[in-house]
Amino acid sequence: MLKASYPTDKFRNIPTPFYYYDMDVLRTTLHEITQQAAKSDFHVHYAMKANANPSILKEIRMAGLGADCVSGGEIQAAIDAGITSDKIVFAGVGKADWEINLALDHNIFCFNVESVPELEVINNLAGRKNKTAQVALRINPNVNAHTHHYITTGLNENKFGINMNELDTVIELLPSLEHITLIGIHFHIGSQITDMTSFQSLCVRVNEIQEYFFSRHIMLKHINVGGGLGVNYEHPNHFPVPDFEAYFKVFRQHLHLQPQQTLHFELGRSVVAQCGSLIARVLYVKQGATKQFAILDAGFTDLIRPTLYQAYHRIENLSSDEEEELYDVVGPICESSDTFAKACTLNKAHRGDLIALRSAGAYGEIMASQYNLRKLPKSYTSDELQR
Ligand code: LLP
Repeated sequence: MLKASYPTDKFRNIPTPFYYYDMDVLRTTLHEITQQAAKSDFHVHYAMKANANPSILKEIRMAGLGADCVSGGEIQAAIDAGITSDKIVFAGVGKADWEINLALDHNIFCFNVESVPELEVINNLAGRKNKTAQVALRINPNVNAHTHHYITTGLNENKFGINMNELDTVIELLPSLEHITLIGIHFHIGSQITDMTSFQSLCVRVNEIQEYFFSRHIMLKHINVGGGLGVNYEHPNHFPVPDFEAYFKVFRQHLHLQPQQTLHFELGRSVVAQCGSLIARVLYVKQGATKQFAILDAGFTDLIRPTLYQAYHRIENLSSDEEEELYDVVGPICESSDTFAKACTLNKAHRGDLIALRSAGAYGEIMASQYNLRKLPKSYTSDELQR
């Protein structure tokens, strides 16, 4: 079994559980993104919701990415990390007035607007500040992302975006909204998408929607196709960097951009998932009636993805190279759903062994909670531990 290299000697003195970020993996990933995106002048806004750890954000800002935010808190964190407001986009079906005002005060690049009432509220609040808000209409393209139904967003049944049959109404309304400038259209069909044909279908739909706007003599400067590129959770050691070349190629080949149009992306998971691991210790190895349990000191409060989405994270025993055995790997929380993996192959486990839950850099630390009055996990970067 190929294991990743971890500074386990440094880990020994750190209380578990904690997140560990391998900055070399992050930097290699960012380098690949910027190289591949630059080929076509694609603009990438990092989806802050995946991980807003300041050390990670600093690296992302240094790579020149913008930010995709879904709350006032994220807008603030992006600004605090030094990401300039002209690279910030703001999405979300339920933007509160204070969040819109914060975005207006910072003159962000674009609001991705998800409904007619929201458009009216932004117009109103911008008017009070004597400003004009740049907006893109988030359109629900009704494209199936073929991913887990909890993380599918671009179907008619989902709460996101403006439905296509509502576009006429929006376009009739726009001239009366004096404090709004329509600069583009926005889409996001879902997350952890590994089948490139889903993105191809999105391109086809965007081309159709573009035709609709052309026929009404509306010129859109920006097209934003959201995020969603998946990572390889099964083999993070073999595939630490997602195939950005193939991903961007789909859009280069299938999306009909006009010469003066700019294409934007909102990548989250694919930027940060593989650089992060949740590091835990085995508290107890317990023989059950029909199986054995490795009980960790980390639970779903630290990493909720397996519980919430039945998500798979590769688990490695960093302290043992003894023969492999089967374990249900569980946490200490008082719920049966606090299970990371069933019948998982691990090198024979003992109390105190260090365990790595891999590919946890995205939607890991940021989704942690304090249920059972547990402490939020701390985090360390490889840079810090090398010092
Ligand atoms: N843009 C919008 C409008 C989004 O809603 C999302 C993710 C993204 C971009 C970034 O998508 P990504 O590139 O990361 O796939 N907590 C779930 C994932 C939820 C994704 C929500 N939206 C998980 O742990 O799998």
